[in-house]
Amino acid sequence: KIIILDFGSQTTQLIGRRVRELDTFCEILPYNKYPEDDADVIGVILSGSPYSVHDPEAFKVNLERFMGRLPVLGICYGAQFISHTLGGRVEKAGSREYGRANLMTFDKENPLFKGFTDNSQVWMSHGDTITAIPAGFECIASTNDVKYAAYAATDRPVWAVQFHPEVFHTVQGTQLLRNFVVDICGSKQNWSAASFVDTTVAELKEQLGDDRVILGLSGGVDSSVAAVLLNRAIGKNLTCIFVDHGMLRKNEFTDVMHDYECLGLNVIGVDASEKFFKDLEGVTDPEQKRKIIGRDFVEVFNAEAKKITGAKWLAQGTIYPDRIESLNITGKVIKSHHNVGGLPEEMHLQLCEPLKWLFKDEVRRVGRQLEMPEHLITRHPFPGPGLAVRILGDITREKVRVLQDADDIYIRGLRNYKVRLSGEEARKVLAAGVPAAMTDGEIEVSLYDQIWQAGAVLLSTVRSVGVMGDERTYENPVALRAVTSTDAMTADWAHLPYDFLAKVSNEIINKVRGVNRVCYDISSKPPSTIEWE
Ligand code: XMP
Repeated sequence: KIIILDFGSQTTQLIGRRVRELDTFCEILPYNKYPEDDADVIGVILSGSPYSVHDPEAFKVNLERFMGRLPVLGICYGAQFISHTLGGRVEKAGSREYGRANLMTFDKENPLFKGFTDNSQVWMSHGDTITAIPAGFECIASTNDVKYAAYAATDRPVWAVQFHPEVFHTVQGTQLLRNFVVDICGSKQNWSAASFVDTTVAELKEQLGDDRVILGLSGGVDSSVAAVLLNRAIGKNLTCIFVDHGMLRKNEFTDVMHDYECLGLNVIGVDASEKFFKDLEGVTDPEQKRKIIGRDFVEVFNAEAKKITGAKWLAQGTIYPDRIESLNITGKVIKSHHNVGGLPEEMHLQLCEPLKWLFKDEVRRVGRQLEMPEHLITRHPFPGPGLAVRILGDITREKVRVLQDADDIYIRGLRNYKVRLSGEEARKVLAAGVPAAMTDGEIEVSLYDQIWQAGAVLLSTVRSVGVMGDERTYENPVALRAVTSTDAMTADWAHLPYDFLAKVSNEIINKVRGVNRVCYDISSKPPSTIEWE
């Protein structure tokens, strides 16, 4: 495997994803958690960082643990750290070097640049710059502004790049990472969805034997894929519990139950909406709502779980980004995310997390390998507390009904509106695993498949005046939200076509009683968040 040491950059996870795209297993570890035993490590990548190497609190690593023994690639801060530590020089750049640049010169013989074309575009984002490299190193690439855009050791397998090969705008970034991971580190590229399914099913059989396992289903892709994988391994010994808290999307509970039954899963569906609505009555604070839903969920789930006699394991669809130890640089809780599931303590269940090493796009690849229906696999993420965090103020059944209707029109619209994409845009969508056939250099996908997540929000604490026919109305607005993202950590609002927005707005106002205005949310994250609460 490849180890990526994280110095706190926003793009560290992206490095991980790129390495996985090369069918190579990798692990992202905090900068200070390099493993004692690294027998199975074939190379080390040092990430970027929000710090300057000169900051007193800057993260440091003992390079001697691996340098010289294993191939090393330093990226941005990683490159500066190597230079700074080994006797080179890093200084504040005259101006922040940010954005596109081109490699004006590069060493064509260097294995890191195999296949590179002249003037290749790279992406820079740094406040410091390397002004001298350590003895025993040589410059291997420069841009107009950055002399040491890349440098390498002459006698050891060490490379360092000031630009970010992991980001989309470094056009040959994937090539560079392939050169490092495959050619230099010697990855056998044997990580694939098929091999993952085979080895995981075998491991689960071994680990679980004849034990009974309980799994909480949410309708989302992660728990669904985990369930199908476990079903393949242990069949009837798996019991799934799907709790309806009453704040799912319109018809979601029945539709998803139907899907699960078609997949041959043994599922107990529990309609607990009465309890949730009662406990949420009059509660307006977002954090309070989350707490109540989280607590009620655990209660309902546990009551069901206890009926399953002899269960030894609780399975969850936890995925890698949920577990990557965050360096927590700001140290603030923005929202307390309550994820579905909870361990009924008195049952002494052991935890089984078959997807814990996967990124979201890999979970989707595994789902396809398991021949699950495409609409389950490409389903957008949906928050555990459901529509409760998309209704401002207190929650009532009527408000949920209004929002479900508006949301349903919006989501169906996104699924039905097709767009043709070519070039970089098409590449991006295909790289995310959306199965679309390329004809004449173009693909056709729905708006739904082009975005990360979408939903309607009921602004039930706001009322505004409208006119319908001859009558004055005084009702609530609905805000539509759609974002593009790769991990929900950062997100941009999706630039949906005007004619689509016009059509959806019209349909919502005409068909959903209680709504007389539709707005489109054009905030990115940060500074906003994806959900309104
Ligand atoms: P925010 O609003 O924090 O959302 O930008 C980031 C991602 O997390 C989802 N989300 C939640 N998921 N329980 C969950 O399971 C929650 O309480 C919760 N709040 C937000 C959100 O839908 C987005 O995908």
